[in-house]
Amino acid sequence: MAEILPQENALDAASRLLVTGEPVAIPTETVYGLAADATNGEAVARIFEAKGRPRFNPLIAHVADVNMAQRIAHFSPLAQRLAEAFWPGPLTLVLPQRDASGIHPLVTAGLDTIALRCPQGFGREVIARLGRPLAAPSANISGRVTGTTAQAVDAALGDRIKLIVDGGPTRVGLESTIVKVAEDGIVLLRPGGLAVEEIERAAGAPVKRGARGVQAPGMLASHYAPQAGIRLDIDEILPGEALLAFGPDRARGAAQAVLTLNLSPAADLREAAANLFSYLSKLDASGAKTIAVEPVPRHGLGEAINDRLARAAAPRD
Ligand code: TXA
Ligand code: MG
Repeated sequence: MAEILPQENALDAASRLLVTGEPVAIPTETVYGLAADATNGEAVARIFEAKGRPRFNPLIAHVADVNMAQRIAHFSPLAQRLAEAFWPGPLTLVLPQRDASGIHPLVTAGLDTIALRCPQGFGREVIARLGRPLAAPSANISGRVTGTTAQAVDAALGDRIKLIVDGGPTRVGLESTIVKVAEDGIVLLRPGGLAVEEIERAAGAPVKRGARGVQAPGMLASHYAPQAGIRLDIDEILPGEALLAFGPDRARGAAQAVLTLNLSPAADLREAAANLFSYLSKLDASGAKTIAVEPVPRHGLGEAINDRLARAAAPRD
């Protein structure tokens, strides 16, 4: 069983486990991560083991600052500008990896690019203490709802890891936005906790959407899936359904929902993002066969919220 320590008292214990190659669940501002030393292949393998994650998914390497990142990847002036604008924060940059990066190839699944992010809070502190990067996917079982509290992480992974650092509910509640920065511009690989519009403003250039193939297998169709089925953009609740609501106005028949949770009564997309995964889990736990979801606007963080909802609703295999 995992020990759960409040982040104020956890720096020593987390560092000790991480240097010996043990994975540790840590809070970041986006979601909890299952972190391990990115330079140690066995440590990284333990992440895959604990998560039951398909091997072809490359991981994000988390760094303490831009200097550490520059020892790992080549930064173009544009990449540099984005890192300075948004780090520490919910932006992941996919960049060409340096030959002597020190990163174990299991982290990148053999790609010649690497995904880098500087997180806020405890994660960054522990990376600075260790002086080396941490590979950390979201701390959930592969394909299931992402953990935004220490309790959710414990429920998913508690019997597979030794330590969960408790930083309370995560502030952003969605994974980071992932962009690839290449010679021909910026490509969105995964919408997330930083709105694309903000990236475009800082870059002074458009972000291309609709990347295909390889890129971010977080793009696997069915991902983040609860046990219950999901019905999106509903305007009416059917008998026996639970309701994931948004904003001040309710869909028809809402009164008969098994359970209703409102992502944001005030229609604030930031609040909705922070609540998304924990509310999906709670509605799922109600035992309803289907979760009906009211429409959520698609601008700003709404792009990432709709992306996660579509994946949760995708046909399962
Ligand atoms: O907010 C986050 O990003 C959280 C916290 C813990 O930092 N991490 C997270 O990691 O969501 P993960 O492993 O669940 O998602 C990382 C995504 C995957 O979809 C992976 O395919 C993509 O990043 N990725 C990693 N390296 C890549 C690369 N070189 N090229 C393209 N995509 C990459
Ligand atoms: Mg994930």
